[in-house]
Amino acid sequence: MLTNVLPTGTGLVGNAFLEQLLSIKQSICYNIIYVARSRAALISKDYSPLNLGSSWKSALENADEKPLELNALVGYLQKSPQKVILVDNTSSSDIADFYPNFVGAGISIATPNKKAFSSDLKLWNGLFSDEEGHGLVYHEATVGAGLPIIGTLRDMIKTNDKVEKIEGIFSGTLSYIFNEFSTIAPNSVKFSEVVKVAKSLGYTEPDPRDDLNGMDVARKVTILARIAGFEVQSPSSFPVQSLIPDELTSVNSVDEFMSRLPDYDEQLTLLKDAAARENKVLRFVGKVDFPNNVVSVGIEKYDFSHPFASLKGSDNVISIKTSRYSQPLIVQGAGAGASVTAAGVLGDVIKIAERL
Ligand SMILES: NC(=O)c1ccc[n+]([C@@H]2O[C@H](COP(=O)([O-])OP(=O)(O)OC[C@H]3O[C@@H](n4cnc5c(N)ncnc54)[C@H](OP(=O)(O)O)[C@@H]3O)[C@@H](O)[C@H]2O)c1
Repeated sequence: MLTNVLPTGTGLVGNAFLEQLLSIKQSICYNIIYVARSRAALISKDYSPLNLGSSWKSALENADEKPLELNALVGYLQKSPQKVILVDNTSSSDIADFYPNFVGAGISIATPNKKAFSSDLKLWNGLFSDEEGHGLVYHEATVGAGLPIIGTLRDMIKTNDKVEKIEGIFSGTLSYIFNEFSTIAPNSVKFSEVVKVAKSLGYTEPDPRDDLNGMDVARKVTILARIAGFEVQSPSSFPVQSLIPDELTSVNSVDEFMSRLPDYDEQLTLLKDAAARENKVLRFVGKVDFPNNVVSVGIEKYDFSHPFASLKGSDNVISIKTSRYSQPLIVQGAGAGASVTAAGVLGDVIKIAERL
């Protein structure tokens, strides 16, 4: 069986994805007919497989062609003699907004790009259809990278299990920061000190406020809530706690933000010390709580004995309580990193190819 695959985006994840795709041996033959980054593309005009050896990076670097404009890309793919899978390894909103056009034209998509799934509810609703001729959409790596979260949750729903509560630590960066800041063994480290170390280790975005504003977690919670059946309009339609002091939201320079952050340590230190007196730690979590009809993102307290309290490094963890699982199902592990994320995307490509 032949499936045509189009990896778009050759950054950290895209690069690891291509290396993994080129290395697998399967009964399904994956023909790569188009590879694109933002400025250049390799395009097989006659849909024969591109000859991608170990030198694909330099071939793409020296390519004369630009990526096809998105309408032209749909047209090109519709004429493919084999079924096609578009692999969107970018964080582009333009490509994400175009997914309905791809799937409507029978083109399937595998992606770690959260944008289409966590934006407007209308975009989400147009993506998943059982209609004949509609492309398939798989996006396991949009939450928890390669961890089996989305597929597991979808299987629970398909088999008519009833989700009661989803709770998790979905940001590797905020996982690291809280695991270091609020520990079972007492410590006197300040929040701003941990943020500074996280930044120096490259764990945060270049502007740590892009992590501390909680919006990345809100996007992931939006995705899980929608799969579980909550009609979440957008990631800003439910309470999201920002860890950025109000006074520092509009500070322009990252350096000034970092230098002024210690002035606001006191409140989080008081919260941490109060939690410790109750034998609890602080964690930054996303929650979907059906009995209480709540979707939220923010700081919560957990007993020292809770699995979230003993988390290490930058791991993600998710706890899913359903009517079948009287004790919550817990999935834990690396929730970021090129290799695990790419493996999540490749797993989706294989699942789509097996269904096509
Ligand atoms: N890194 C992780 O650990 C991780 C984990 C989970 C999910 N993700 C998601 O995975 C996706 C990729 O992340 P990354 O870390 O690999 O990002 P990255 O290193 O910034 O790479 C992004 C790639 O997309 C390309 N690109 C951007 N716009 C494009 C367009 N319109 N057409 C074609 N190519 C385009 C860029 O091209 P140029 O090379 O020309 O700039 C680059 O190759 C993102 O959606 C991210 O949120 C990443």
